[in-house]
Parts: sequence; C-alpha cells; structure tokens
Amino acid sequence: MKSIVVANWKMNPATFKEARKLFEATRKAAESAKNVAVIVAPPAIFLRELSVGYKGKRLSFAAQNAHYEAGGAFTGEISMSEARDAKCSSVIIGHAERRGMGEENDDTRRKVVAALTIGLTPVLCVGERTRSQSGEHFEFVREQLVAGFADVPPAKIPRVIIVYEPVWAIGAERPMNARDMHEMAIFIRKTVVDRYGQGGMNLKILYGGSIDESNAEDMIQNGDVNGLLVGRASTDAEKFSALVSALGAL
Ligand code: PGA
Repeated sequence: MKSIVVANWKMNPATFKEARKLFEATRKAAESAKNVAVIVAPPAIFLRELSVGYKGKRLSFAAQNAHYEAGGAFTGEISMSEARDAKCSSVIIGHAERRGMGEENDDTRRKVVAALTIGLTPVLCVGERTRSQSGEHFEFVREQLVAGFADVPPAKIPRVIIVYEPVWAIGAERPMNARDMHEMAIFIRKTVVDRYGQGGMNLKILYGGSIDESNAEDMIQNGDVNGLLVGRASTDAEKFSALVSALGAL
C-alpha cells in the first residue's frame, strides 16, 4: 500500500549540522521503503542547503508555511515562489500551530490557491481544538474545508492534500482512535464532494497527531488515510526510520 509521510520538523533542530544528520537518516529511510513517499518539511532556513544536495527521487521537500502574496513588505515571511525556488514541491498550509498564532480560514483560502497557481501542492491542515459529545467538531472542520477550497478550480481539487490533525491529539500521548479517523475521512470527502463536486472523491487524506513507529501501521490500515503527518517522531532519526520501514512493509 502506497503511503505519504510528511516529516514536519517544526522549529527543530537547533543547528544545520544536526539538520544535515537528521536529513541523512531520513533520506536513507525514504530510499529503503519504495512504497512510502516521504515529504520533508525542515525549517525554512535549512531548506535550500538540504534540497540542492539531494539528487534522489524518493523524497521531496515542503515549506512549513508560505505567504499568499507574491512579494513585498512582509517581514519574516517567505513566498510561494521562494519556496519553489528552494526546490519545494509542496507547502503546509494552516497547520494548527500557525492557526494558533493567528492564521485564519481566510488566509488558508488564499494560500491554497496561491500554491496551486505556482505549481506547489497545498498540504491543507484542518482539525478542531476540542471535542464534545454534541459533535460540533464536524461543523468546525466543515468550515475549515469549505474556506480552504473556496477558490480552487474544480479540476485542481484532487491536487490538494488534506491533513486532519485534531489539536487535542498533537503533541499528546497517543493519536486519536483509527476508527474515529475513518469516520472523519468519510466526512471530509463527503463535505468536499457536496460543496465542490466529484473531485473531492480523489482527495488524499492524511492524519497528524502523536504518530510514531508504534502506531503508524494501525492508522494506515484502519484509519482510511493515505498517509501521516509526523511531528516529534520525525526529528528522532531512529523512530522515524522505524516508522518508515513499518509502513514500507505494508
Ligand atoms: P506530533 O505533531 O507528531 O508531534 O504530535 C503532529 C502535528 O503537528 O500534526
């Protein structure tokens, strides 16, 4: 079974020397697991130096975030074209931690279309902060999806990768139950199809939140997902290699 693994290093590691070492291990893991497509998202400042030195095909690069404007007075930001120029083929949009810093649905809407326009794959993250018995989280996720796809031409809908990452499962002790993920994957596809048409059937859906080498396989086999977004375990060379090889064996 082919799966996608996004290695989101977040604001780690502290030095380029460590980043190069971690990348080496990530590259080896990716190259030994033919049916796993690894997408590495290092801190922007390390991106180009890692990507220009990589000549293989098994792994690709993503920016952790990029601005929707083409350029201008946006101190601290990077643009989609800068990310592409640094050999990224995709960009994470609306990660829960960015949303926590003030990114809104309207920003993700602009970013998704800006990425597609320039030829980057948007990796659009959605997920509720909390859950209650009443099921309001479905409505919350629906709004995030409806906004994220609002300006996407129907033919380009299948190019977007969705990551469902409930905030309460990020940085936690364990991921959400795979069966609940299965339910959410059906909901995500249905929401996009109902609102924007059949392209939604072909969406790739990933799960993110406390995935490591011990639970990745269960989530892929029972969660109805095409892959995983991995935070902490992607910055531990041993854990990440074990995770990729577990998926490689499926
Ligand atoms: P974590 O992060 O794997 O460290 O929980 C996941 C995420 O950011 O979605």
